[in-house]
Amino acid sequence: MTDSLLHQRFPEVAAELPFLRLGDTPTPVRELPLGIRTPVWCKDESGYGSGGWGGNKVRKLEWLLPDAQRRGARSIVTAGATGTNWGLAAALYGREQGLEVALALVDQPLDDHVRAQLARLEASGATLHRTHSKLRTTLSAPWLLLRHANGRKLPYVLPVGGSSPIGTLGYVEAALELAAQIRAGELPEPAHLVTAVGSGGTAAGLALGLRLAGLRTRVLGVVVNDTLPLSAKHIVGLALRAEDVLRERGAQLEPSGLTPADVTMLRDWLGPGYGHETLSAIAARDRAGMVGLHLETVYTAKAFAAITDLSARGELDGPTVFLNTYGPR
Ligand SMILES: Cc1ncc(COP(=O)(O)O)c(C=O)c1O
Repeated sequence: MTDSLLHQRFPEVAAELPFLRLGDTPTPVRELPLGIRTPVWCKDESGYGSGGWGGNKVRKLEWLLPDAQRRGARSIVTAGATGTNWGLAAALYGREQGLEVALALVDQPLDDHVRAQLARLEASGATLHRTHSKLRTTLSAPWLLLRHANGRKLPYVLPVGGSSPIGTLGYVEAALELAAQIRAGELPEPAHLVTAVGSGGTAAGLALGLRLAGLRTRVLGVVVNDTLPLSAKHIVGLALRAEDVLRERGAQLEPSGLTPADVTMLRDWLGPGYGHETLSAIAARDRAGMVGLHLETVYTAKAFAAITDLSARGELDGPTVFLNTYGPR
């Protein structure tokens, strides 16, 4: 018996789309005493996961790892930047499921956080390939696949951030969970759900899940990565591909009708680029610390800065949920 809300909604997909629960649900929601005009709740994913590392990546792996196993893969290959949270989660949880994990690492600005992360990656048991640039990663892909093939079985390849249509189902599931918390009276129906956007799967999954749950909440994505196309059109395109996967695997599902107008992607908090600290992110990280949230400046503090800045400008009306996607242990 599965405890996936998506499986409960579409029992017909359970055999074709297996699910592996890796954390305790529901993740908590609480109102943040920020003293700003917008009432803000936090849905806190930081403690989600069992394998020594949490945050939003675990939700994607709950669908990706069983899909890899269903296809008979014995190894997975994926890529990320030097401080990749995604790569670390894939390494730890993948190996726990008996899969070999290989990571291609692209350079990013080095700071203490990234150096510490690299040390964790080195200790994770994954094979690391420092490919340095996106171009060299793409060029070395055929070699990586052969190098990590197991007998005649090629590795299961995962895109950056785990944001494939199947990985995206993780945040469809989380949106259904949030909807149940709203129904139970833990928080009002939010006008906005704010998340950092690095590879897009989180925002895309939320958009589809909120629509499936019949909520009017809008996803407001704060883009923190300038190396991938992450417009509203791209995010909704990914959400629609996740919807197609559900349908292809048997879900009786009316078209969601999602269009790019249904999500908002904001780039004003990116600063000079992916991984670059901004003064507003540093200030937001410190402000979040005062209400008991541990954020970092690559993703979550940029999203948090957007909430306080938009609220101060009177551009964020109605209850707002901040999704804390960062899960250090
Ligand atoms: C802490 C954190 N928050 C947010 C994100 C963004 O999520 P996504 O890649 O699904 O856009 C990531 C990864 O990219 C992350 O590591």
